[in-house]
Amino acid sequence: MNILLTGGLGFIGSHTAVVLASEGHSVVIVDNLCNSQQQTLGNLELITGKKLPFYEGDVRDVDLLKKILRDHQIECVIHFAGLKSVAESGADPLKYFDNNVSGSIVLIEAMQAEGVKKLIFSSSATVYGVPQYLPYDEEHPLAPMNVYGRTKLQVEEILQDLSKSDPDWSIVCLRYFNPIGAHESGLIGELPQGIPNNLMPYICQVVSGKLPHLNVFGDDYDTKDGTGERDYIHVMDLAEGHAAALAFTNHHQGWEAINLGTGFPYSVYDLISAFEKSAKQSIPKVVKERRSGDLPIYYAKADKAKNLLNWQGKRDLQSMCDSSWNYQDQLTRVPK
Ligand code: NAD
Ligand code: UFG
Repeated sequence: MNILLTGGLGFIGSHTAVVLASEGHSVVIVDNLCNSQQQTLGNLELITGKKLPFYEGDVRDVDLLKKILRDHQIECVIHFAGLKSVAESGADPLKYFDNNVSGSIVLIEAMQAEGVKKLIFSSSATVYGVPQYLPYDEEHPLAPMNVYGRTKLQVEEILQDLSKSDPDWSIVCLRYFNPIGAHESGLIGELPQGIPNNLMPYICQVVSGKLPHLNVFGDDYDTKDGTGERDYIHVMDLAEGHAAALAFTNHHQGWEAINLGTGFPYSVYDLISAFEKSAKQSIPKVVKERRSGDLPIYYAKADKAKNLLNWQGKRDLQSMCDSSWNYQDQLTRVPK
């Protein structure tokens, strides 16, 4: 199929591009490079051995989107383009509503105008909010605790209303849990700008000597070892989840929200231990206060993805850490 990836040079989009291209799909990418680098395109072409059409542009540019959809006879769009910092979303909410919500509306308008009615949307487990029960299933009440999460929920709701208004649409909102890891080549991975907010990229910068130690945000939660527990998922598994969702859109109409997680939570200390094994060095750490807005533990009920998409995460925590380390190690030696 001819697939457009918005935000396709970012962390999850780039890995998905590799999986889709290897399955024989024609992948086209639009990205405004606000959180990625054009060099990633060269690395994608190295990995896939294919030339991938790339447009440097913004999803809020309706004319550009229409032209891309038309020129490449796009059949399905996977919409990764978005801003994702929880802290920044609180400090600058309009930036987030404009980019994430308005950006999605413009994309949908362009798709509607060009008659492209298959869409896979990058949503997040953050739409669930404080767990009423665990694991979160897709029926869990939706009450995001931050602006970023509200932008994801608003887009999900817009898409649900759209599918009710026109049964030709096939829309899948994928609620990602905590993606980490990298492609086995070490050529693509997560490349945050500035000081990372998230655990894995922070660990990578400590191990590469850019940051002195890891801050462990709380060791007194009611969890197995007192640190926060999350459902980490290998980004290549996540990428394969998109290929499965793409196949699903071919025989599905309407709107579905589907969790992409493994169903198994790991603590901050679990992740540190596994990474220490990968990097063969110990990670200096300092226990700090809990981070405001953090939940003690959450993880996915992963049955719906298995039943509807015939997909489940299959790579373990060690493989996630090995691949993150491999990427970080290559990055340190050969700047990309
Ligand atoms: P990322 O920042 O690495 O990738 C997003 C890409 O979109 C970047 O390349 C950026 O330059 C581009 N972009 C942003 N706004 C754009 C715009 N207006 N027009 C064109 N391009 C634009 O992030 P990621 O981790 O790959 O996440 C992809 C999607 O998944 C995002 O929507 C994010 O909110 C969502 N998500 C991510 C996580 C996570 O932990 N990484 C978890 C849940 C959901
Ligand atoms: N943590 C630390 N030190 C750090 C960073 C994180 O101890 O330097 C801890 C956190 O307290 C938490 C765990 O590591 O217990 C995971 O934190 P992350 O920041 O890596 O991930 P979150 O679960 O907080 O949030 C992530 C994304 C959100 C997304 C959410 C959805 O950042 O955008 O997953 O699942 F919405």
